[in-house]
Amino acid sequence: KKTVEDVAWQGKRALVRVDFNVPMDDARQITDDTRIRAALPTITYLSDRGARVILMSHLGRPKGEPNPKYSLRPVADHLASLIPDKRVSFCPEAVGEEAQKAVSALADGDILLLENVRFYPGEEKNDPAFARQLADLGDVFVNDAFGSAHRAHASTAGIAQYLPCVAGFLMEREVGIMGKALANPERPFVAIIGGAKVSDKIKVIENLLPKVDALIIGGGMANTFLAVEGHDMAKSLVEEDAKETARRLLDLARTSNRKLLLPVDVVAAKAFAPDAEHTVRLVSELQPDEMALDVGPASVEMFRNEILGAKTVIWNGPMGVFEMPAFAKGTFAIAQAMAEADATTIVGGGDSVAAVEQAGVADKMTHVSTGGGASLEFLEGRTLPGVAVIEDK
Ligand code: 3PG
Repeated sequence: KKTVEDVAWQGKRALVRVDFNVPMDDARQITDDTRIRAALPTITYLSDRGARVILMSHLGRPKGEPNPKYSLRPVADHLASLIPDKRVSFCPEAVGEEAQKAVSALADGDILLLENVRFYPGEEKNDPAFARQLADLGDVFVNDAFGSAHRAHASTAGIAQYLPCVAGFLMEREVGIMGKALANPERPFVAIIGGAKVSDKIKVIENLLPKVDALIIGGGMANTFLAVEGHDMAKSLVEEDAKETARRLLDLARTSNRKLLLPVDVVAAKAFAPDAEHTVRLVSELQPDEMALDVGPASVEMFRNEILGAKTVIWNGPMGVFEMPAFAKGTFAIAQAMAEADATTIVGGGDSVAAVEQAGVADKMTHVSTGGGASLEFLEGRTLPGVAVIEDK
């Protein structure tokens, strides 16, 4: 695999796919710029070496047509404010004459952000003609968009047909750290999987079970496993149609001799509401009018011990309804245990990333992935199209 360090950049046009799909509020203010900051090492490296840096990204899901609500202009302004000593400009088109003009106007070291590639129908269709138009703007394709690597779109994959491709630093880091954990982890290797639904995580569990020393299951999805083990989960969310799968995964753990840990106690509430009356119960003592909304202290203790004894820990998915403070303790305790562990600690995407940030321990982790769907698919063991293009060449 080639990286940005394998190219002599002076005067070259680096066409860089980044994932600037960042959350914004109604006033189009960026509410979390993690993904923009995560791309800075690649962007400044290229600029410092005299490349003309042309950035491509999507934002939201504008469905193939221009929509001011999804313009990347505020992102260009924010990027400029993060690197005040660089020249950063914005082009209101991603391809065509205006984009070509903007690229020609660049001096060595300048940075240009193109408008949202999803304003064009060819992007998500991975239309070769659109990929070609994008490719015409650069000399080398740099893929640094790990967060979009599970999409086989023109700017993430198709474009690789027309240009030499290399990985950016963020892409290299994401794939390197998570890839090593999956292929050759330092042991004990513990995975923690949570979230509301079993069905969202089946493939992740199937892929991880044979690799780990212990698998911890928490969150809403644990209810379905506990129900299969014979517990009456009362009013808790139990996925009837995922029970077969849960049974199969429990059997797989048993036959492959893998430790699979489920909660032994829960925070039981009378309603799914932030102010619901709640109490700690053993799973076996849940009352008929109660639902489990978080893992309890005994479960936390057990999970914590497992995490503290590990050398590699991967976490994906919260332990409870952590948006409600009454049911956030289990999730934050996992974040805390990972922060304390003397291990390679990886937080793979989505809600668990929000949880480590809220717990104030994100900087204590070895790696916090910028991918949501992408890290999930990576943990499922799938080949991501945006990663395949940098590995092929
Ligand atoms: C993400 O936020 O997970 C990526 O940017 C991909 O966005 P998408 O789900 O709209 O393709």
